[in-house]
Amino acid sequence: MTQILDGKTLSLQIKDEIANEVRKITANGGRPPHLAAILVGEDGASQTYVANKEKSSHEVGFMSSVYRLPENISEEEVLKVIDFLNNDEEVDGFIVQLPLPKHIDEQKVINAISPNKDVDGFTPINIGNMVLGQEAFIPATPKGICTLLQRNGIETEGMHCVVVGRSNIVGTPAANLMSRKAFNCTVTMCHSRTRNLAEITRQADILVVAIGKPEFITADMVKDGVVLVDVGIHRIPDSTKKSGYHLCGDVKHSEVDSKCSWVTPVPGGVGPLTIVSLLQNTLQAYKANNTVRG
Ligand code: GUN
Repeated sequence: MTQILDGKTLSLQIKDEIANEVRKITANGGRPPHLAAILVGEDGASQTYVANKEKSSHEVGFMSSVYRLPENISEEEVLKVIDFLNNDEEVDGFIVQLPLPKHIDEQKVINAISPNKDVDGFTPINIGNMVLGQEAFIPATPKGICTLLQRNGIETEGMHCVVVGRSNIVGTPAANLMSRKAFNCTVTMCHSRTRNLAEITRQADILVVAIGKPEFITADMVKDGVVLVDVGIHRIPDSTKKSGYHLCGDVKHSEVDSKCSWVTPVPGGVGPLTIVSLLQNTLQAYKANNTVRG
């Protein structure tokens, strides 16, 4: 029987836990944690993500601010906002929403973020510390995947985890985390140039799909009993829907789900955990920040 890795319900539980911590902090006279975001341009998906971040921040009692910058802003101006946030003692953590417009060097912008405010875990220092197993901010989506597996009691010890996708944001950190002692998986990473992909995905006990292609994984590519984590979320034009689109993932759920022991729905699987992970990272930044300042 297929069981659902229900990210929506779990995210509500964890938000409750975070809200309780925030209430304790403020009851003791502390200021609430503060998460900021820089949003450049008008990309629809980015606006949705930042709006969700703001809503969730308020739900747990965080302060939240958004720096909305025009599409044609110079790289130098973006770097100035980062410098300002790096030095703002009232801001514990911030993110720069990706992707950035083409004329801005994304890595240069990420490199400018102070590692102790980099709650996305995208700076070289945080990625390096993560790989070394040192204290670090873990990127939100792979952290959310780990939380979903752990909180649902999924057995991972010695399992073959196949990660499809090698992005800096999801695939690469997810593969690293699953090989760690906390999970003890044997990990294979696949990507768009992998030969005989289906042969490899069929070996997966745990399959994490973050390839960014709608309904890419089909029934013939998985074995019975797989634990399937679908990171993809795509808007597909659909004239039968009021909104004009429907959502789908990187997995063809209509034919794959019945083969799974556990599966993440889209939406309501990994997505809600991504936001929650960002809130957890911000609380972690707040605590580190306030210890330093006594
Ligand atoms: N764009 C897509 N996912 C993310 C994310 O997790 N963080 C940021 N900053 N941008 C994104």
